[in-house]
Amino acid sequence: MQSSLSESDHVLVAGATGGVGQLAVAKLRSKGIRVRILTRSAEKARKLFQDQVEAIIGDTLDPTSLQTAVQNITHILCCTGTTAFPSARWDFNRTQGPLDWLKLYLNPKDCSAKANNSPEQVDANGVKNLVAAAPSDLKRFVFISSCGVLRKESLPYSLLNAFGVLDAKQKGEEAVVSSGLPYTVLRPGRLIDGPYTSFDLNTLLKAKTDGKLGIVVDTGDTLSGETSRIDLAAACVECLSHPNTEGKVFELVNKGPRPEAIDWEGIFSRLE
Ligand SMILES: NC(=O)c1ccc[n+]([C@@H]2O[C@H](COP(=O)([O-])OP(=O)(O)OC[C@H]3O[C@@H](n4cnc5c(N)ncnc54)[C@H](OP(=O)(O)O)[C@@H]3O)[C@@H](O)[C@H]2O)c1
Repeated sequence: MQSSLSESDHVLVAGATGGVGQLAVAKLRSKGIRVRILTRSAEKARKLFQDQVEAIIGDTLDPTSLQTAVQNITHILCCTGTTAFPSARWDFNRTQGPLDWLKLYLNPKDCSAKANNSPEQVDANGVKNLVAAAPSDLKRFVFISSCGVLRKESLPYSLLNAFGVLDAKQKGEEAVVSSGLPYTVLRPGRLIDGPYTSFDLNTLLKAKTDGKLGIVVDTGDTLSGETSRIDLAAACVECLSHPNTEGKVFELVNKGPRPEAIDWEGIFSRLE
């Protein structure tokens, strides 16, 4: 049985200025769903969405700024994130020169403490704050985690986790799963397809699926590979209308031939 989003629903997208967030907003709007975004930057929101969506300025690390954002919201998509490795996006307490960057990279354990927006902040604490602020009658909290959270000791995830991004995502997952809210956690592989918002090899290469690969989901953190931002955003939106994705944590990657039409019902039925 499929329960659909209705006109009375109102979805909050946190991280809406990011790659997946932008696509999720577009997908929701194409379905006629009311969208509110949470963003730290009014300017970015204006550039990306003009006045087509309601924008609330807030920061997941500032719980008081979340109060207005969550008012009368029925669903939350949490697409926030930062880079896995130290970058300006971590918002260091002071400007870093070349030698500082070298020192940071040589002392991973020290890094998080020097930054205001590290993975530990965004993916663990920020998610906890958003979960805590969510209305108690929320219909679904969707959180984007990552493949590898249960395989942090093995390659390539041990490298990816050098600065703690998978530890932080796991803490975010735990906050969502133990919240008592209806939830869905999606674990994508390395993100490909635009908008190319991350600083990594796939972004440099502008890697894309060309819409040719199928979508595979599974549970237990055994899948690996790459995930299209377009398909991930679509999955975040689609799972709101599929009751069997509630209370599920699953991986989603692109593999194999792509059917003419994506059968979300069939894909999500693998989670039973
Ligand atoms: N890149 C990968 O290969 C990969 C792999 C697995 C999982 N993921 C996850 O997939 C998701 C989507 O990735 P993406 O590349 O689309 O992300 P992205 O482009 O890096 O976007 C991140 C978003 O998070 C927002 N944000 C960061 N810190 C925030 C804070 N303190 N408060 C509120 N908003 C904050 C950013 O807003 P601002 O505009 O204000 O900066 C931006 O909208 C993320 O959760 C990411 O961790 C990525």
